[in-house]
Amino acid sequence: MRLDKYLGDHNVGTRKQIKEYLKNGRCTVNGTVITKPDVHIDENVDEISFDGKVLSYSRFHYFMLYKPAGVVSATNDKRNTTVLDLLKEENVRDLSPCGRLDIDTEGLLLITDDGVLIHKLLSPKKHVDKVYEVHIKHALSDDDIKVLENGVDIGDKNDDGSKKLTLPAKVYVKDSDNEGNPVIELTIHEGRFHQVKRMLEAVGNEVLFLKRLSMGSLFLDESLNPGEYRALTDEELKELGL
Ligand code: URA
Repeated sequence: MRLDKYLGDHNVGTRKQIKEYLKNGRCTVNGTVITKPDVHIDENVDEISFDGKVLSYSRFHYFMLYKPAGVVSATNDKRNTTVLDLLKEENVRDLSPCGRLDIDTEGLLLITDDGVLIHKLLSPKKHVDKVYEVHIKHALSDDDIKVLENGVDIGDKNDDGSKKLTLPAKVYVKDSDNEGNPVIELTIHEGRFHQVKRMLEAVGNEVLFLKRLSMGSLFLDESLNPGEYRALTDEELKELGL
């Protein structure tokens, strides 16, 4: 296997970053610094270290993408650029986005080939926190906040036909944006279709801009620009229970 592929499999970084790390002499194979990405190694025999730490094998790949607006959260699409198109350089099969953000929504998206983690983060039973920055048309009244926080009817029904209110949520009112539109942070524990937009609609408001800031323990790295991505760090993986 190529050394850069092996390092990629260990979430050391993106292909581009790995090339740079190798150039900087951060990787050794059996104690010898190797600077070329296309060197072949035998993963069953050779001892590969990065920054002095011996790597143990990881089957899966984990990337944090700052999804830009205008890109679809799908693995392929005939008309639009997909989030996977933005990771083309990785050349990794079986990657999928962990959940969906609308085409006009920005922010944190985890991309991985670890189906168990995807299930864990998306399962409605797990109630994983998702925090969104939401720019809205009108300021929220105290009553609006109460309704949003206690559970609101967004038109969904339970199996028995009764109204399926949203689960309790948290609203944090922030300053206005540059255009004077009110900004809130909304924390929800579900991932229903267009949920944030429908919640705001249900209190007579309108979402003008939507950005996901976090999902469970994973926070959008603000040093990324929209469209950029990076491998998850060891710490982030640990916090996800990996
Ligand atoms: N809620 C929405 O309405 N859209 C998103 O993309 C995510 C949450």
